This record gives sequence, structure tokens and C-alpha cells, in this order.
Amino acid sequence: MDSSTKDRVLALLEKDQGAYFSGETIADTLGISRTAVWKSVNALRKCGYDIVAVPNRGYCLSSAGDILSKQGIRKYLVPACDNISPEVFDEVASTNTLAKELAAKGAPEGCVIIAASQTGGRGRRGRTFYSPSDTGIYLSMILRPSFASPQETIRLTTVAAVAACEAIEKVSGRKALIKWVNDIFLDGRKAAGILTEASFDLESGVPDFIILGIGFNAYSPEGGFPEDIRDIAGSVFNVRRDDQKNRLAAEFINCFMSYYRAEGFGEYAGEYRARSLAIGHEVNVISASGIRPAVAVDVDDECRLLVRYPDGSTEKLYSGEISIKLR
Ligand code: BTN
Repeated sequence: MDSSTKDRVLALLEKDQGAYFSGETIADTLGISRTAVWKSVNALRKCGYDIVAVPNRGYCLSSAGDILSKQGIRKYLVPACDNISPEVFDEVASTNTLAKELAAKGAPEGCVIIAASQTGGRGRRGRTFYSPSDTGIYLSMILRPSFASPQETIRLTTVAAVAACEAIEKVSGRKALIKWVNDIFLDGRKAAGILTEASFDLESGVPDFIILGIGFNAYSPEGGFPEDIRDIAGSVFNVRRDDQKNRLAAEFINCFMSYYRAEGFGEYAGEYRARSLAIGHEVNVISASGIRPAVAVDVDDECRLLVRYPDGSTEKLYSGEISIKLR
């Protein structure tokens, strides 16, 4: 089944969800055969769409379910994101890896790879990112910024963290906080993580392209999260509703792009600070040289974490990892 035919049939049914379209009308409108309409409807049903067929009336999309789709996401993108082209896959090894391959072949900024599952989802520091089917959103965006400094590249992770929090709040109504530098927490549990990767031109030191990857746990998987992350992982939504994943993916893109395009990324640093889980808490600073206890004092305008060690010395951390002792 040609997936673009299936997508076009879905787009037509989605435009007037709940209304009936005869097979003939769909075929004529899209310039395809009635057999192609029938095959598309069956393929869409296999994907989980609830399409009712009534003799003499035709087909009706009664419930869109909560399935990631290109047109489902486009529906919620703001006009400023018209140049964003989301490509949605059922399963890939890693959306970051695929986006990287496409970027290396010249794919432009604004190309967004989204998958409903990943077989080799990657996290920071060589970790894996649990990416089961149907419960998450795994999204990677190709960026080709005009700025040059590695610092600005690092800041993209923090811009994405703010955008993720704002998108989560808009769609779920739940307050989202940031565990420096790239983890999004809801009610004390990690519901999203960000992995930013860059390919630099060695001579100029300027990034050729950047892949901004984010994974949201939209829902808890059936049977719960695996043992190793059960105590820490959480999800954005507690209740399944139609189209929540498409909305969340689109709102993330909307929010991120509006900061990304603003001079100096706009006012995002204040938002980042206000959402910090770490400030005022005892933390462990985890680095290649070991683990050091400290107190997180502040987050500055560059989103660096200011920590104070027990000997009174302070340090501004650009990147890295902390664990927080929440009391
Ligand atoms: C982390 O928590 O350490 C970062 C997780 C980043 C996961 C996302 S899912 C989409 C993209 N593709 C990947 O393989 N990883 C990122």
C-alpha cells in the first residue's frame, strides 16, 4: 500500500471527522481508484484508526485514536512552522541516527524525524533510551544554525528543555520542571530527555548541522516501565485521549522554533531558571573525574549551573550531569 495514498485518505477523513464520505467521493476527490480507497481504509484501521463503514453512506473517521501521523502533527503547527516537514515512522533504530544520516546527505533545517518506537534509542553518555511502541514520541530535528560558537550549540539543549516544559503544560496542564541539564520531570518523575548531537567542520569549528533529539514518555507502557527505570520514569499523560501525541509533538516544535528563531533565543533563560529542580538542593556533580557533592546555587543566563563545594569553592558547569538529593 502506497503510504502517501493512505495519508491522503486520512487527511480527507480527518478534515471533517465524524462526517461520512462515499468511496466514490473519496476516489474522485483524490483521483484514485475505489480499490485504492478500500485498501487505504484497511491499512488505516490496521494502524489503529477507528473508521466506520456504513452501506450507502460511506466511510467516517469516528475516533482518530492517539496515533502519531504527519498530517496529525501538521494540523497543530503554527503558520510560522509551515516550513517544518515532519516525517513519521512506525519504527526506526534511532531518530537521531536517521536524522544524522539524512543531514549528512544534505537534508535541510526543518526536517523532523518522528517515530512511534525505536529499537536502539540513545540517551546521553552512551546510555540507551527506552522507546517502546505506541506510548512515546521520539523526535529528532535537523538544525543548521548560522551561529558558530560551541556554547550556543550547548544552549540549544536548554532551549529545548524550556520548549518541552511549555509544550507539556499546554497539552497536559501539568507543571513540568527541569533537572539540569536536559531532563524533564513531572511530579518527581522523568517524562522526557534530550540528546543534542553536532557535526562540526574541523577547520572552522562551526557546526555543519545539529541534531536535536527528544524522547517523551507520553504514557506509561502496559505492565509499567522496566525494572531499571521504574523508580524514576514517569509519563506526560495519565489518561489516553485522541490526538495527544500529535499535539504534544507539534507544540514542542512550535515552542522550540519560536525561541530558536528569536534574537539570542529570547527570554528562555529566565524560564529555564524558574523551572530548575536543582537550585537550593544538595547535588552530586558527576564527571569523568568522579562524583563530588555540592549545593546547586543558581542557574545563570547561559543556563550554566553554579555549584558550591563543601570547601567553599564554586564552579559554573556548562554541561555534564548531576543527581539531586530531593528532601
Ligand atoms: C537522555 O535522557 O539521556 C536523553 C534521551 C534522548 C532520547 C531521544 S528519543 C529521540 C532521539 N533519538 C534517540 O536515539 N535519542 C533521542
